[in-house]
Amino acid sequence: MNVRQADAKIASLIASEAKRQEEVLEMIPSENYASAAVREALGSVLTNKYSEGYASHRYYQGNRYIDEIEVLARERVKKLFGVPHANVQSYSGSPANSAVYFALLSPGDKIMGLKLSGGGHLTHGHPEVTFSGKYYQSAQFDVEPDGRIDMDKVAALVKKERPNILSIGTTAYPRFLDWKKWRHIADSVGAYFLADVSHVAGLIVGGVYPTPVPYADVVMFTTHKTLRGPRGAILLVTERGLKKDPDMGKKIDRAVFPGLSGGPHDNVTAAIAVCLKEAATLKFRTYAKQIVKNAKALAQVLQDQGLTLTTGGTDCHLLVIDLRPQKVIGNIVAEALEVAGIVANYNTVPHDVNPPMYPSGVRLGTPIVTTRGMKEKEMKRIGVWIFQVVQEVAHYRLPEAKEERATFVKKVKAQLWKNKKLLAITRDVKTLCKRFPVS
Ligand SMILES: Cc1ncc(COP(=O)(O)O)c(C=O)c1O
Repeated sequence: MNVRQADAKIASLIASEAKRQEEVLEMIPSENYASAAVREALGSVLTNKYSEGYASHRYYQGNRYIDEIEVLARERVKKLFGVPHANVQSYSGSPANSAVYFALLSPGDKIMGLKLSGGGHLTHGHPEVTFSGKYYQSAQFDVEPDGRIDMDKVAALVKKERPNILSIGTTAYPRFLDWKKWRHIADSVGAYFLADVSHVAGLIVGGVYPTPVPYADVVMFTTHKTLRGPRGAILLVTERGLKKDPDMGKKIDRAVFPGLSGGPHDNVTAAIAVCLKEAATLKFRTYAKQIVKNAKALAQVLQDQGLTLTTGGTDCHLLVIDLRPQKVIGNIVAEALEVAGIVANYNTVPHDVNPPMYPSGVRLGTPIVTTRGMKEKEMKRIGVWIFQVVQEVAHYRLPEAKEERATFVKKVKAQLWKNKKLLAITRDVKTLCKRFPVS
């Protein structure tokens, strides 16, 4: 029985989502469209198996093929990144970062990372509401008003705060990170150095973003972003990490299982192995290069029309439009973009004066449009549409009175879905999307 026969409702929702993905320009930088091969592995019989433990050391019988799959995934990623140890069992990025803390820190130790509002991630010590900010002390740093990290300031703060680990990675920071300098800063207080390259793993493999492998102790990344794999995560322990602590690999493995999880998702492991094989090709290198070329082309056309980008542009796959000059909030622009067929997300900008619920930025990325085969020429068209959308909604002002804001945003959003100019752009977007089908 297929899904349609077993559950017509879910089948119809999946079909609707597939159509939506075909017909819009998905520009959320943390997303990608996985290949048909990755999705086939994901939907395979491997989901039926229990295999607690690691290859050759399982708590269940019947794992001979699962063992081979896990070993293949591990070996492929070790070769691709040039590291001696890999763990492919984390369920996703957040549990993987938690595993690093669980492995290397004691409760109450100190984590230091980039603030979420400056383009960091929740798991890098975001206070109070996250595991990393609640069970550990946290001392975070921010970007400067120009959107860049001032490494001298961070170095001074690290010396003052003396964290046990530097957890460095970004979600909305469009510039390269200087891994060597981060290592130097970590060493100044004897801290561990975790490089979280979730967003840029595919770019690193493609040779268009610097690798942290020679400098970090542990490297973590999700597999579903620029790498184009299934939703999952990989933890790597580097030569440097093993030199610091020869048991680091074992500690990380133990933290993942049995520390934080039970049976691995073997279907995901197989899909990860497939995506790693795809990522090792010349075709993938060309793809990664094109992601960056597209982001730079998009940045250029947006700036040429007068929009402001945080840090003044991009080195990678993402960019953030700073809407403070227009005085419109990101929520309204993101909704208007969706009406126009361009899917992005609202985001804070450096030193945003608006609250995180109503931030002043919109974040955009080029991995998916590049997966579909679009190039600089299409980025120019997309950039013009984005500008037209921003212009169309730039007059909306968030009310001063806090209690009026939610109702205002709801009302504006309803209006946007009837806006003729935005709906006209949708038609052009759909025509463009038809020329670049999802494979
Ligand atoms: C830098 C970074 N770290 C960690 C994560 C967490 O990954 P997940 O959403 O898979 O838990 C993300 C996801 O957006 C990320 O961008």
